[in-house]
Amino acid sequence: MTAIPQTMTAIGISTPGGPEVLKPETRPVPQPGAGEILVAVAAAGVNRPDVLQRQGGYNPPPGASDIPGLEIAGTVVALGEGAKRFAIGDKVCGLVAGGGYAQYTVVHESNALPAPKGLSPTEAGAIPETYFTVWTNVFQRGRLQTGESFLVHGGSSGIGTTAIQLAKAFGATVLATAGSDEKCRACRELGADHAINYRAEDFVAAAKAATDGRGVNLILDMVGGDYIDRNYEAAADQGRIVQIAFLNGPKATVNFSRLMLKRLTHTGSTLRPRTVAEKAAIAAELQEKVWPLLEAGRCKPQINATFPLVEAAEAHRLMESSAHIGKIVLTV
Ligand SMILES: NC(=O)c1ccc[n+]([C@@H]2O[C@H](COP(=O)([O-])OP(=O)(O)OC[C@H]3O[C@@H](n4cnc5c(N)ncnc54)[C@H](OP(=O)(O)O)[C@@H]3O)[C@@H](O)[C@H]2O)c1
Repeated sequence: MTAIPQTMTAIGISTPGGPEVLKPETRPVPQPGAGEILVAVAAAGVNRPDVLQRQGGYNPPPGASDIPGLEIAGTVVALGEGAKRFAIGDKVCGLVAGGGYAQYTVVHESNALPAPKGLSPTEAGAIPETYFTVWTNVFQRGRLQTGESFLVHGGSSGIGTTAIQLAKAFGATVLATAGSDEKCRACRELGADHAINYRAEDFVAAAKAATDGRGVNLILDMVGGDYIDRNYEAAADQGRIVQIAFLNGPKATVNFSRLMLKRLTHTGSTLRPRTVAEKAAIAAELQEKVWPLLEAGRCKPQINATFPLVEAAEAHRLMESSAHIGKIVLTV
């Protein structure tokens, strides 16, 4: 085992702004605290919330690293006091509230999972943020059941590609919206029963047609804006709508009578500020219910592009172009 250095390369946000503000910096290697593990990072996933943080709109929660990056995979190189879930040398992936874009990062052992067998470090590093988010919002909060219909907006996003595969694996009829025919094709290849190019087709009419007029049981929405009213229209009686972002803005004019007449439930959540214990509960369910699917190849993170850590700015440029399908990953 090579010795742990005092300093490391990490990506800092020099000032809020465009991708060019992401700059390699020399930082101290963090020390694992009680219950934490120090991981030599092999891969760090890039997520849309990192873009918001870089722009100055999504500050890390109190106590979290100011280095961007919410998910990593790598090798355990040191254990904090009382940490016993993993041994030095174990390959893990983990969810962090910041600090992923770095050569080393600390993860609470309960928010880390063994890297799934058969997946590359790059694939493992692309799992935590979207799998934790989809599990807690679609299955815990949204209570998706076998045989129900499920619509995910942004089907080609990191979140969308995960949601399609997991909803399908758990027996739902899956609908997805995406912004091009190519993206719709990718959604179908991942298992979507219906992929709707929202630029060419009204997703409400398409969702009704795909469900024999009943509407969909569960909608996972990252768009907001005018989609809020349209989601109410596309939902079935007793439908649920789970909000995870507002890419088109958080304000809307909504006909709320549908909420009452259809007995809808509209909820939402953010993952990052939740407690270590809450994230640990999600991790435990993932390990039990989803890790076997990953190891059997029944779902898989979709890697669109990789960039060396020091080229994080290029990775953000690609994400902001929205040309990608699936995940963008930094390799360390
Ligand atoms: N609440 C939570 O806990 C949580 C956790 C993680 C991520 N998120 C949110 O989930 C969303 C997806 O994250 P991700 O990392 O998977 O993102 P991503 O891979 O960058 O995908 C975002 C996609 O959304 C679509 N889109 C629709 N309307 C858009 C708009 N107005 N602006 C930009 N893109 C738009 C784009 O594809 P089209 O061509 O189809 O438009 C784009 O490719 C983000 O908004 C993120 O903040 C929330």
